[in-house]
This record gives sequence, C-alpha cells and structure tokens, in this order.
Amino acid sequence: MVKRVAVLTGGGDAPGLNAVIRAIAKTAVREYGIEVIGFRDGFKGVMEKHLVKLTEAEVSGILPRGGTILGTTNRDNPFSYQVAAGKYEDRSNECIEIINKHADALIIIGGDGSLSIGYELAQRGLKVVGCPKTIDNDLAVGQAKTFGFDTAYAFATEALDRLHSTAESHHRIIVLEVMGRYAGHIALHSGIAGGADIILIPEIPFNYEEITKKINDRLSQNKRFSLVVVAEGAKAQDGEMIINSYESNRPEPIRLGGIGEVVAKELERVTGIECRVTVLGHLQRGGSPTPHDRILATRYGVAAMDLIAQGKFGYVVAMDGENIKPVSLAEVAKGIRNVDIHGDLVTCARKIGICFGD
Ligand code: F6P
Repeated sequence: MVKRVAVLTGGGDAPGLNAVIRAIAKTAVREYGIEVIGFRDGFKGVMEKHLVKLTEAEVSGILPRGGTILGTTNRDNPFSYQVAAGKYEDRSNECIEIINKHADALIIIGGDGSLSIGYELAQRGLKVVGCPKTIDNDLAVGQAKTFGFDTAYAFATEALDRLHSTAESHHRIIVLEVMGRYAGHIALHSGIAGGADIILIPEIPFNYEEITKKINDRLSQNKRFSLVVVAEGAKAQDGEMIINSYESNRPEPIRLGGIGEVVAKELERVTGIECRVTVLGHLQRGGSPTPHDRILATRYGVAAMDLIAQGKFGYVVAMDGENIKPVSLAEVAKGIRNVDIHGDLVTCARKIGICFGD
C-alpha cells in the first residue's frame, strides 16, 4: 500500500505543470490520505536528495501559474549521469534506492525523455506512473493531446493574427517559426487557426517552387502578402533540418532553430517580395495555461493519483476520446507521434488552399 508518493517534473517546462502538481497533492491528501513529496529539478533533485513536502497549503494558488514550482531540467538522466566534466556513469541503482527510501511510488510528469527514463526504472522494479506533458504534442499516448499544447498553439495563433496586419499593410511575406521538435503539430494547428497561407512541417519536406507558386497565385488575386508558419524541424526536400546547436551533455543533444531565417531569405530572393521572420521560441512555453490545459492537467493529476492508490504501476495516463485510459509506459518509450500527413487535419487544410510546399 502506498503511504507516500514522490512527484517530479522533467524535461522542458509546459503550461499546466503546476495544475497537475496541485491536483496530485489535493487528491492524495483528500481522497486517499497519502502524503506527497516533490523532488526538485527532475532527476537531478533525486540524485541530490533535494526534496520538499507538497501539502495542500504548498500547492495553493498555483493553478494558473506557468512553469513548475518544483523546477525541471532536461539534462539529468540517472542512466548516464554526469559525475564530473565530460564523465558520465550509470547511477540508476542509486536513483531507485533514493526514491524507495523517501517514497513508495513515483509520479513522473514529463515528455518522451523523462517518461522513457521512467520506463527503464519501472523495468528495474520501481513503482512508476507517468503524466504526459509537452507543448509539442508528440507523445505516443494514442491520439491524446498533452497539456501545454493548447496554450502553445493558442499563443502561436495569436502571433499569426498580429503578424497578419503587418504583412497585409506592408505587402510582405512574414515567416513565423514555431517549436515542436521533430513533429509539426504546433505549426499545423496554429497555421490553420491563424489563417496561414503556407505551413511547413517536418513530416512534409518542402520545395521552394511550390511555395512560390502559391505566393504568385495569391498575387494574381491581388493578395500582395503571405503568411508562412514553419516548424523548427521542417526541412527542404533537398536539404537538412537546421540545427541551432549541439549540446552533448543533454539526453536530447540537438537544439533545432533557424529554419525561419533560411526560408525567408530564399523566398525574398526568388519572389523579390520583402520578407520578415519572427521566431516565437520559449514564449510558446511560458505563461498561464489555457482553461483547456488547466482541465486536462487537473484530470491527469487526479488520474495519476487514482492509479497510484489502486496499485497500478507502469502506466501513463492519457485521454481516450472523452475519458482517461492508462497506456503502458512501454508505448511512450517506443518513439514520438508525428502529424498524420494523410489525416483529417492536413486534408482539411489542403482543401481550403493551404500549401504545404510539396
Ligand atoms: O520539447 C519542448 C521544446 O520546447 C521543443 O519544442 C524545443 O525544440 C525544445 O523543447 C527546446 O528546448 P530548450 O528549452 O532546451 O531549448
């Protein structure tokens, strides 16, 4: 029986993390009489035994707050833990020992990186439940949305609305670069919601001829501006993804970024139309979660705690239609979920004339 549960947040922050922490703490105390502790800064806090009690008072008022009160990191992996500059060791046994010493089970609120670590730890006998989070919406938990995604693409949509006026007034092409890593969910959703003319995503490599055709087509209808939304992981058919930097000390060493500038330069060259670029960057990850994300995060927190109380470990909570259905951690560890390029959303976008550059 679980008397004490530990929680940690891992990977990049996402709007809604605090809402999950709050829901876990409230459900644990009110419904099950279980004590909750939080490890600071993801697995780093486990290794450094840096923990705090999460009472109801501790989580009061955090529902609308962005970020995570526990702190997070996307650097520390107990299976390859940095013990000195450039020196890494497998410290997973120590990690399991520390968690078991302080709690009877662990809830990991994280993306594919942290949940894959959770899967490995579960394989070694640790009692783990996962809560899926990422603005990228790329977790392989069925067709479920992750919390943070709605807030991120709502922000990108607002950015497109704002850029629309300048593009139209100055007769320019404006390129908006959004995050999403190797998946185009943010670009696709915000592009449709924000009325983009061209959407470029990693799943559909593009060529400049097709994009230029679309822009010229608009010119022939006297539409002298165009809005392009490009996912950071998008690439030309004859090109590569644009890498901003390579940081070998992270589980995910590649940092993407820069494709917006590349696309804008080339479009200005081939069309002769003035181009501008806006890179949304971390603005997409910050700020208060939307009502949708607050509700989803709250439901995930409650569901994770229910699984813990029922003694069901090795699962990630996920939405299945209107209801929550646990999915095996093994599923998440298999890889990410990309945009379905033959799916409804892409088809719908094509039918209203959105160009994907293919
Ligand atoms: O996974 C979330 C995300 O924001 C991605 O969209 C992006 O590629 C990455 O994290 C950026 O990571 P960092 O904050 O470490 O630069």
